[in-house]
Amino acid sequence: MKSANLTTIFTLRLGFALLAASSPVSMAQASQATFKPGLPWPDTDGVHINAHGFCIVPHAGKYYWYGSHKIAGLTESQKNEAGVRCYVSSDLLNWTNAGLVLDVSAPGMNPEVAAAGILDRPKVIFNAATKQFMMYFKLYPPKARGGATRTDVAYTGTAVSTTPTGPFEYKGRFLGGGTDKGSGDFAIFQDADGAAYHICVRKPDKMLVCGRLSEDGWKPAGAYVPMQGVEKATEAPALFRHAGKYYLLGSGSSGWAPNAARMFVADHLTGPYQSLGNPCHGVNPHNQLGPEMTFGGQSTFVFPVPDGEAQFIAMFDINKADDPINSGYIWLPLEFSENKPAIQWRSEWNTSVFENQ
Ligand code: DGJ
Repeated sequence: MKSANLTTIFTLRLGFALLAASSPVSMAQASQATFKPGLPWPDTDGVHINAHGFCIVPHAGKYYWYGSHKIAGLTESQKNEAGVRCYVSSDLLNWTNAGLVLDVSAPGMNPEVAAAGILDRPKVIFNAATKQFMMYFKLYPPKARGGATRTDVAYTGTAVSTTPTGPFEYKGRFLGGGTDKGSGDFAIFQDADGAAYHICVRKPDKMLVCGRLSEDGWKPAGAYVPMQGVEKATEAPALFRHAGKYYLLGSGSSGWAPNAARMFVADHLTGPYQSLGNPCHGVNPHNQLGPEMTFGGQSTFVFPVPDGEAQFIAMFDINKADDPINSGYIWLPLEFSENKPAIQWRSEWNTSVFENQ
């Protein structure tokens, strides 16, 4: 992202905010000029963003935030997802609710989705060749919560739209990981050659594995390969490429509770990976949690800032299993220090931090 554009955006927004303050017309929500990790994040209607296990997709000058919509009053041990919600922004700070783009209760919805036990961690990519927005999500069969099947089998669901704000049409599901139990947390990674890969936690052994997707992207194209060097039970994978290397940010495995983040690097997507340890530094003053608990968060995505060189934002959920609709977010710059990614806590920041890189 070029600094001139950002300065213009921020100047315009500041001017707008000052104008609004002196105007008798009240605004739903004053515009935001900084990221405030760990604090509630109001959308442009003033409502805390409800899109968890999320990803960000840049498209035609706008940004799209896709995440699972948690239903008010339900806990994570109940069926608590209404589908996938999308928000739109032009500056990554101020987000407008674009509605449920995949609604599990939509008339005629396939029972695989309508009756799903869990539908979370949606990831969307844009396929430039077909001009399709392709959505993938963790899809547990009915009764996955507290029922006979529990969470020992999980599919990867898929859905498609020709516009970023949907509605997305359910395309079907596959068992990833190369086993008959499927996979849990995952990332979808588009490599430089356009090929898409499904990187997932294989069930039941929790090995992180990588499978190339078919040319049309809707199913695995062959065998899954273990990501050598990545510690077993690494969840919440988020991959990015920088200077010819592949980086993997992930978490440990402790349900909805936080644990320490971990970072790996490799010359090839499938590895072998080398551990770079925990990239987090500092303490979140809102909960007093530091690197040992990833500031209270769990990774979900690393966003390469468009047009930026070595500009990445590390993105985390703050899971609240008893009150998921109020689960929070942590976005922090991911910077390279001595060739290693570092994620330093900041209570308030904006993308001008990238200007000196
Ligand atoms: C760990 C995962 O990373 C989370 O997204 C969530 O699925 C929990 N497990 C559920 O226990």
